[in-house]
Amino acid sequence: MDVINSLLAAMTLEEKIGQLNLVAAGQAVTGPAGGGEASADIRAGRVGGLLNLWGRDTTAAAQRLAVEETRLGIPLLFCLDVLHGHRTIFPIPLAEAGAFDPLLWERTARAAAMEAASDGIALTFAPMLDVSRDPRWGRIAEGPGEDPFVAARFAEAKIRGFQGENSAARYSIAATAKHFCAAGAVTGGLDYAAVDLSERALHEVYLPPFHAAVAAGCAAIMPAYNSVAGIPMTAHIGLLRRLLRDKWGFDGVIVSDYNAIAELLQHGVASDPVEAAALALRAGIDMDMASGVYGRYLPEALARQLVGQEDIDSAVRRVLTLKQRLGLFEDPYRRIETAESPAAVPIELARDAARRAITLLTNRGILPLPAHLRRIAIIGPLADARAEMMGPWALAGNPNDGVTILEGLKAALPNCEITFAAGVAIDGEDKSGIEPACGLAAGAELIILCLGESADMSGEAASRAMPGLPGRQRELAEGVFAIGTPVVALLSSGRPLTVPWLAERAQALVATWFLGDAAGHAIADVLTGRFNPTARLPVAWPREAGQIPIFYAARSPSRPANAADPYTSKYLDLSTEPLFPFGHGLSYSLVRLENLRANRKEFGVHDKIEVEVDAINEGQCSTEETIFLFIHDLVARVARPLLELKAWAKVELAPGQTGTVTFALMGGSFCYPDETFAPVLEPGSFDIHVGLNADRNALLTIRLHAVSEAAASYAVSVTAKI
Ligand code: GLC
Repeated sequence: MDVINSLLAAMTLEEKIGQLNLVAAGQAVTGPAGGGEASADIRAGRVGGLLNLWGRDTTAAAQRLAVEETRLGIPLLFCLDVLHGHRTIFPIPLAEAGAFDPLLWERTARAAAMEAASDGIALTFAPMLDVSRDPRWGRIAEGPGEDPFVAARFAEAKIRGFQGENSAARYSIAATAKHFCAAGAVTGGLDYAAVDLSERALHEVYLPPFHAAVAAGCAAIMPAYNSVAGIPMTAHIGLLRRLLRDKWGFDGVIVSDYNAIAELLQHGVASDPVEAAALALRAGIDMDMASGVYGRYLPEALARQLVGQEDIDSAVRRVLTLKQRLGLFEDPYRRIETAESPAAVPIELARDAARRAITLLTNRGILPLPAHLRRIAIIGPLADARAEMMGPWALAGNPNDGVTILEGLKAALPNCEITFAAGVAIDGEDKSGIEPACGLAAGAELIILCLGESADMSGEAASRAMPGLPGRQRELAEGVFAIGTPVVALLSSGRPLTVPWLAERAQALVATWFLGDAAGHAIADVLTGRFNPTARLPVAWPREAGQIPIFYAARSPSRPANAADPYTSKYLDLSTEPLFPFGHGLSYSLVRLENLRANRKEFGVHDKIEVEVDAINEGQCSTEETIFLFIHDLVARVARPLLELKAWAKVELAPGQTGTVTFALMGGSFCYPDETFAPVLEPGSFDIHVGLNADRNALLTIRLHAVSEAAASYAVSVTAKI
């Protein structure tokens, strides 16, 4: 800490504010007016970090400017979005979440950190932890789905992977939990739009993943663009200072989102950039990403006493402390120049992650592909779409590294005659290719229909009001179905797509999402049965956009849907149920659960409860099943959701084998946020529901009783472990 105190004592005001300035370089553009030449500002000590610059030579050159040509030689912080891989691209987070595998989540983050660190990166703007129940929102692709419990486990795994045990190590990079908070609840599914939801929803759904990230020692937090109940997150003193810093004890760096400080004027809470700078600094924003408002207007804010010197100094102290914890003062080039080649990411990891992210949604016995097949037609615009397989936010990835679905299937089926036609473009009105494609498909024994979105139809600023198949893909599908040949439909997308008609017509429907470099091989591994699909949906799959938001953890309506009673909660024109519920996913086997039991009937907040269930593999092949445990607090002062996920477990079973799965829960996990949002366990009955997904009609249930009221202390006082 004395290095920091001596630096603070020596720094001029301009040098201090320079450390709060995060400048966008131009290697990638991830926001408006992105990027520019920063050398002069670096030499002048007006830059604390750079984003969107990577590569050993470029980062080394920029670091030399800071270390050797500035008065105090403070190293730069190189930052980049590494959402699902750096040079090796893994499945998009929404797909990877479906693996329900924290070890895998950690391994891909570790691999990405090694590659990114080798390119000079010391901080990533990941993991994205925005719970989302709105597939219109393009950024649902970047997050862990609809459930806060899954998102919290995802946060912990990714932070472990990125930051490692020693944050100053060569291959460790600082993680940034983003976008704090509730970005997944934007109005209309529109990026940057306002969020208006209850404080209860914040505490039950949108804050828990960030609470877990802070407890896991996340080095940085990025506030969301949106306002919450009228207060922009970039100026939200209540959530940034009183909750995040004071109550949760977060002492890491808060970095604004891209240009977000300047956009406080657009929000209508600042009349000029000086006020915007003051609002952001007082709320606790340490680094200003890309807007330049701190650099240009904080001196005037200080002069007008809108901020104090201590506000500036404490922000600078946190930035310098992060750099110290990353080892940048010891060796500014640690992550950049090295004799050894960058850590090679095991290519098997990319393929394994991709296989485990593929969700088999329907299968009328046509998959795995029969070995006797000799003529297959592969039709559709996503069949040979190398670049699209990377999905959004694959900044340092090389689209040419990707394996297409066509290539993967050709490699896996060398004895098959495989014909291919795109038929239509992913988007656009041209239908002229449909007839030739159907003509080509007519001679096949089986058709694999490769449909979906382009990579840029999800991710940031990519909301879709009609999240079905774009362009003329439906017409292509109709033409293919008219042939009468069995059809396996694959969906490459960054979101659930509203395609109930496709699920109805295809003999099998597979969510292949965007799987990254190994997409084609992984898809072929699953379609041929070399890999028995294991992924389960981390988000409900709506039938139509009109059902959105749709999610399993809903509270009961006063009159639940009942076809026999007109006065109930229903649509006149559609079911209230999703096409596929949270947790849905098939394998090539069939597992049945029975004999749900617990080691006790009554419990208190400190008691350990063991719940067991038997799982029987009634199928013909070995399988890995994911089993979910939900609770329902039947009566409470605040109405509780009908299902709340509290645990999941995996079990591997040979054909015919029965296994017992044990869940260990603490009484405290039955708490909920009371009227003051403090965790409380109320006495009363709880149903424990166990099943293969969140379909409430298919769950095993036992009832337990909490015998005493108690508050569980989970106030977290942590320091960023980096
Ligand atoms: C973007 C995104 C954010 C990203 C940042 C830097 O606008 O909102 O998630 O980390 O800018 O690229």
